[in-house]
Amino acid sequence: MDAAIEDGVDVLSISLGATRHFGFKDDLIAIASFSAIKKGIFVSCSASNAGPSNTSLANEAPWILTVGASTIDRRFRTSVLLGNKKLVHGQSLYQPKDADHKHHPLVYPVKDGNETWAFCAPGSLDDIDVKGKIVLCDVGNVGNYLKGQTVKDAGGVGMIIANDIVEGESIAAEPHVLLASYVGYKEGVEIKSYLNSTASPVATILCGGTVLGHKSDPEMAFFSSRGPSYASPGILKPDITGPGVDILAAWPESIEILPGIKLKYNVLRGTSMSCPHLAGVVALLKSAHPDWSPATIKSAIMTTASNVNRNGSANVDERGLPADVFTIGSGHVYPQKADEPGLVFDVQPEDYIPYLCGLGYTPKEVQIIVKKNVTCSKTIPEAQLNYPSFSVSLKSGEHKAFTRTVTNVGPENSSYLVRDVSVPKGVHVAFAVVDSEDVMRFTSVQQTKTFKVTFSRDVNDKKKDLYGQGYMTFVSDNGKYTVRIPFSFKFE
Ligand SMILES: *[C@@H]1O[C@H](CO)[C@@H](O)[C@H](O)[C@H]1NC(C)=O
Ligand SMILES: *[C@@H]1O[C@H](CO)[C@@H](O)[C@H](O)[C@H]1NC(C)=O
Ligand SMILES: *[C@@H]1O[C@H](CO)[C@@H](O)[C@H](O)[C@H]1NC(C)=O
Ligand SMILES: *[C@@H]1O[C@H](CO)[C@@H](O)[C@H](O)[C@H]1NC(C)=O
Ligand SMILES: *[C@@H]1O[C@H](CO)[C@@H](O)[C@H](O)[C@H]1NC(C)=O
Ligand SMILES: *[C@@H]1O[C@H](CO)[C@@H](O)[C@H](O)[C@H]1NC(C)=O
Repeated sequence: MDAAIEDGVDVLSISLGATRHFGFKDDLIAIASFSAIKKGIFVSCSASNAGPSNTSLANEAPWILTVGASTIDRRFRTSVLLGNKKLVHGQSLYQPKDADHKHHPLVYPVKDGNETWAFCAPGSLDDIDVKGKIVLCDVGNVGNYLKGQTVKDAGGVGMIIANDIVEGESIAAEPHVLLASYVGYKEGVEIKSYLNSTASPVATILCGGTVLGHKSDPEMAFFSSRGPSYASPGILKPDITGPGVDILAAWPESIEILPGIKLKYNVLRGTSMSCPHLAGVVALLKSAHPDWSPATIKSAIMTTASNVNRNGSANVDERGLPADVFTIGSGHVYPQKADEPGLVFDVQPEDYIPYLCGLGYTPKEVQIIVKKNVTCSKTIPEAQLNYPSFSVSLKSGEHKAFTRTVTNVGPENSSYLVRDVSVPKGVHVAFAVVDSEDVMRFTSVQQTKTFKVTFSRDVNDKKKDLYGQGYMTFVSDNGKYTVRIPFSFKFE
């Protein structure tokens, strides 16, 4: 990273990171990123692939863009037609033109109720007759590609891979060695209950080619790491999500993905795929607005993000439930809107010093990160950093107030009102512009306004859930600009 900074790069796209829980002073990527942002270099990082467990994020520093992964509206579809005429959809990259459409016997390789064989790991089908059959394998234990090789070696004609409950409806398209369909958890249960219902189960796998316009996309991927942040619970992370499932990409040279199998390109999934998408959006924004700081670009991306799928409803996670803020962050990147955010929340590199001191780091530890002498004479609570989201802990009866400063990057004459607020029952949020009425009125570009947000919780509020969420949206007088700020609450 230091070499890249020395070379004068504009954007760093970092598809790596450790999900080991540690603070910023021990986090090499956080430390190197601080040197980058001091030079105006934007740092986009993978949130990591340790989901869906909570507090599984890497790269949590507030000067980094922490990127989760979601699907795009494309499926490489293969479908399973069962003997009972039920059709369930799955995926595979391998779609042979000459696939036969005949029914074949369907087998789930379990012995005496023991499902170990159903992982279809190499060798596991040696004593099971799968010749000429379609084999239903469970996800896990070994990679999906190897399962296919195992089924093929044992004489199987096709394979269905069924997700477990954790991976849910998150599936992927892979380059299988035989006709295959990778299906979600619910579809897997449907196939297994069909298997239970008949003595001679049959199925056929149909190739559907590339299907575009999938209505429930973007969906959050099961593996996308989740908040809350370990290193700084007062900053809402991840920041954003972007395309990270079934992404076609090339390597600069052939890569041996498995012994004997070299590829120059592949379709892959992971936050390693979504992070460079965001870095690309940043490069576009930076060329359109060369004067924007890394924090300004990040704010523009976050406050304009989308929170609905192609069908206009809430983005869902791998369970098919609305994705929460610890999964989706501010939402799915919307590049065209990020180009015209109206208002931005800027942060200067030195603003992170009182933030780091407030987190409890000693002056010496802060020095390791910011590479200059600090005294920690000033500290702020984490949630007071000028961040385009809020993460606040609230006890019953407690009030907490924070300020934010926005900069007008829209038209010179414009005003903004809070149009939309959502908070959990028992929680209240009050908004006031400092030294003004409740409307933020701007008369020039680059003008700043400071506002105060007060969060409070009813004295008699007894929450069963440990966490809650909400948001508030500013809309410009001409209706053109919207600035959405998500909230997460921890109920202590
Ligand atoms: C995180 O997981 C733990 C253990 O499963 C659970 O007790 C806790 O409530 C979870 N936190 C959130 C934010 O979901
Ligand atoms: C299932 O079989 C595997 C392999 O022989 C064995 O290791 C495992 O303990 C068995 N599981 C159960 C629940 O019997
Ligand atoms: C199928 O039958 C087995 C054995 O009785 C049972 O354990 C399993 O839960 C059944 N699966 C479904 C999806 O009904
Ligand atoms: C899309 O929205 C329509 C109307 O609200 C609903 O009936 C349908 O189930 C939705 N489809 C998906 C895939 O969300
Ligand atoms: C930091 O302080 C030390 C001791 O006062 C001094 O020697 C050093 O030059 C200072 N470093 C910087 C970067 O100002
Ligand atoms: C902004 O308002 C001022 C004062 O009313 C006016 O002089 C100026 O022309 C306006 N600018 C634009 C671009 O409308």
